[in-house]
Amino acid sequence: MSIFLGVNIDHIATLRQARGTKYPSLIDAARICEDSGADSITLHLREDRRHIQDYDVEALKHSLTTKMNLEMAATAEMLKIASNISPEDCCLVPEKRQELTTEGGLDVVSQLSRMKEVCAELSSNNIKTSLFIDADKDQIDASVESGAPIIEIHTGHYANASNNEQIDAELKRIIEASEYAHSLGLQVNAGHGLTLENTQAIASIDTMVELNIGHSIIARSLFVGLANATSEMKKLLQEARNL
Ligand code: PXP
Repeated sequence: MSIFLGVNIDHIATLRQARGTKYPSLIDAARICEDSGADSITLHLREDRRHIQDYDVEALKHSLTTKMNLEMAATAEMLKIASNISPEDCCLVPEKRQELTTEGGLDVVSQLSRMKEVCAELSSNNIKTSLFIDADKDQIDASVESGAPIIEIHTGHYANASNNEQIDAELKRIIEASEYAHSLGLQVNAGHGLTLENTQAIASIDTMVELNIGHSIIARSLFVGLANATSEMKKLLQEARNL
């Protein structure tokens, strides 16, 4: 079965915002990623607009030739933007202002009725909702109930594990969660903290459909260029699946 690579381009915007310049162009960057094997482009419109800006979402919607995966918090403001833009996928994430990046999965269990409303609203605009959750059975069950067709399993704990025992335990949780979610009919994606070193173990899980990878690809592009950084990650994904 195929495996897809979503490249998260937030940190190209981080570089631009650091100096308030017009460069580097997100449109050009997304095109290079798409030409080099990205199957979708992911961007996170954060409440504080620290990297991606509203005009980026609008411009990319016109220029992308693959598909847009818009990450956002489930707020009224973001839902309005999503319904205007109509990205193919919307990945709902928890958001805290002070965090460096998305630090944990969404608690779907405790806000199930809100999640049902949000998924229905996005679905009525032909947007597929993906819920960014930890590898947890209760969160998966709640995700099914919410009506979301996709989950994205948070791989941050796996990526941050400091010894082999912890890595194996986190990997086992992700494999079990992926198989369980798949058996319930959910599309299973994963992402966060994935690098050239740790991605293949996740990509080789045969129920995994899409991996969303940002920071490591953008950092690697400083040395090898964005096209190579994207294509080498895509190659790793395909090798892991013997494609
Ligand atoms: N998936 C989600 C839901 C995220 O929030 C992020 C970080 O923005 C990523 C994937 C990509 O993570 P990383 O930049 O660590 O590869």
